[in-house]
Amino acid sequence: MDADIARMDTTKEHTELKEHRTMSTAFKEAIKAGIPQSLPPKRTVGADVNRAPKRKDILRPSEKKLALENALRYFPKEWHAELAPEFLEELKIYGRIYMYRFKPNYEMKARDISDYPAQCTQAASIMLMIQNNLDPAVAQHPEELITYGGNGAVFQNWAQYLLTMKYLSEMTMKQTLHMYSGHPMGLFPSSEEAPRVVVTNGMMIPNYSQPDDWEKFNALGVTQYGQMTAGSYMYIGPQGIVHGTTITVLNAARMKSSGGPEGKLFVTAGLGGMSGAQPKAGNIAGVVSITAEINPKAAYKRHEQGWVDEITESPDEAIDMALEFQAAKRARSIAFLGNIVDLWERMVERNIHVDLGSDQTSLHNPWAGGYYPQGLTYEQANTMMAEQPEEFKSRIQSTLKNHVAAVNALVEKGMYFFDYGNAFLLESSRAGADIMDADGELFRYPSYVQDIMGPMCFDYGFGPFRWVCASGKSEDLDKTDAIAQQVLEDLMKDAPAEIRQQMDDNIRWIKGAKENKLVVGSQARILYADSEGRTEIARAFNKAIAAGEIGPVILGRDHHDVSGTDSPYRETSNIYDGSSFTADMAIQNVIGDSFRGATWVSIHNGGGVGWGEVINGGFGMLLDGSDDAERRLETMLLYDVNNGIARRSWARNKEAIFAIKREMERTPTLKVTVPELVDEDILSNLDF
Ligand SMILES: NC(=O)c1ccc[n+]([C@@H]2O[C@H](COP(=O)([O-])OP(=O)(O)OC[C@H]3O[C@@H](n4cnc5c(N)ncnc54)[C@H](O)[C@@H]3O)[C@@H](O)[C@H]2O)c1
Repeated sequence: MDADIARMDTTKEHTELKEHRTMSTAFKEAIKAGIPQSLPPKRTVGADVNRAPKRKDILRPSEKKLALENALRYFPKEWHAELAPEFLEELKIYGRIYMYRFKPNYEMKARDISDYPAQCTQAASIMLMIQNNLDPAVAQHPEELITYGGNGAVFQNWAQYLLTMKYLSEMTMKQTLHMYSGHPMGLFPSSEEAPRVVVTNGMMIPNYSQPDDWEKFNALGVTQYGQMTAGSYMYIGPQGIVHGTTITVLNAARMKSSGGPEGKLFVTAGLGGMSGAQPKAGNIAGVVSITAEINPKAAYKRHEQGWVDEITESPDEAIDMALEFQAAKRARSIAFLGNIVDLWERMVERNIHVDLGSDQTSLHNPWAGGYYPQGLTYEQANTMMAEQPEEFKSRIQSTLKNHVAAVNALVEKGMYFFDYGNAFLLESSRAGADIMDADGELFRYPSYVQDIMGPMCFDYGFGPFRWVCASGKSEDLDKTDAIAQQVLEDLMKDAPAEIRQQMDDNIRWIKGAKENKLVVGSQARILYADSEGRTEIARAFNKAIAAGEIGPVILGRDHHDVSGTDSPYRETSNIYDGSSFTADMAIQNVIGDSFRGATWVSIHNGGGVGWGEVINGGFGMLLDGSDDAERRLETMLLYDVNNGIARRSWARNKEAIFAIKREMERTPTLKVTVPELVDEDILSNLDF
């Protein structure tokens, strides 16, 4: 009997192994084929998939013809007659040509790096990350190749995906693939030291960077919106936003009110894509939070997911629950299903003390569903938006005025309020709300980068460093977590007082990271580390790979970081020397990283704050345990962080001056121009 079972088990294992091998061979063959030899059948996309919104019908008939010619150039002539009407239909229905029929049949997910048909491991690491960004568990609109943010594209169409993967499967260590907004221009001879891939997304002649320029040129198939980590293959799911929000809330609690986060009340709005991280982050940071959300679907989704603990439709009940949790010093999150302004107004009436306030409604998009007016349900508001847009706009403006009035009243009673990178201040000022300071020149409230992330993190070099275990094994992620923790604890022993808090927060995060269960798609981790921390962690990983303790590791970071992004209302909003409207830092960064050993580099126009409002870049780097990898990580990570610190120091930010001087002591070959600070008296005595 036992022998029979054993035989059956072996047969089953054998069959499974055979099936796996067949699938793996078919996958490899499909990748190597690129655009298939024979025309695949037309495909209908299932209704159960989260689809990208229909885009503006912006092209004139002659431009539609051009868009079609552009799309057809990927395919053999014999297919044109069949594909032309189909692509025109896609353009008319969706505003874009996605080439749905060319989406491959194999599963879209990050595989073990050794499963990719590649001539070099560096190319395989890029294939892995591309597939991760398109994995339906990770990507927002996987059929349209959109990873996040509604428009953050990896490619414009499926032909670009197929060709890119084919090029990567052929690439040697002496070639570089040049990516023009999702289009693989081709493999060009280079050297082992060069990046394997250079990515540009949405790079425009500056005068052609208005939102409608994106609509038009994207519809023509010649550019795309790469957001930040979408078009650079470095998105790792919601973990990044949860960690970033935790750091922000935690430091806001510390900096702006006495004592620690325990028992503090944080009130905000939005349980959508990124804003949905707020209650989860509030819990991790240790505060009590109330998050208002007008859309029942969004609110219940976060509740079911466990990202928010309680849910109520009554502002009073939300407030009472919060007061109870505060008294018990229990970190708990509450969703108020209703309009944020109704909640704020009730808090004013009841004279509630709120410690921290913010807002993450989508005010970057106020007239098309980003922000909802008072006095209407979600459905009523959506109907008005479509049928009476002018009335809708006027209601939004008066709601914003009420919004600011209630916030101002609570701020007078001691609340600390900050803008969370969603254009709340800008749109409130446009609506005529009382949001300017006494001189009428500046906003009353700071952005979170001005007050918190800039001085606490970016100016010292702390930013969202991340890594992906390319074996796909969760054991490897556990081992890297332990290595990172050990490295940070060792560095903590000699860390100066200025950065001990930041390090301590990240040691705590990495210790509990696994429990937060934020891994979606690839086995990835994020933590905030400075130049020294990033380098030492990377070096320790490389050693562990060389010793065979873990498989290869891919390093990267969010573009929302120290050096990668020039964005005057967000990442560089705490730069006050006038240079916040320049983009030299981001461009220098991508060029600088590219010849210091990055495996791939990217530079984009347009991230969370909009097309034309930001230039942002990033990198990916494969660690394979070699001496070469160690040499590369040392020089590249040093530059990748200190480029931004040097610029922040030159802008006279005192934290950055401290950090760059410290780095120069540690690295004698680093010599940076440090500013002389003029005595205020000399200037104030001059007649301007
Ligand atoms: N600076 C950053 O790092 C950062 C991070 C995350 C998000 N953001 C910004 O925050 C905003 C939100 O991002 P998202 O991805 O969550 O967008 P989203 O549109 O998915 O979510 C916003 C939510 O706000 C709700 N809402 C709108 N008006 C409301 C009102 N009056 N009362 C209550 N709820 C209301 C909407 O129903 C929606 O669910 C965006 O502008 C984004 O750019 C910035």
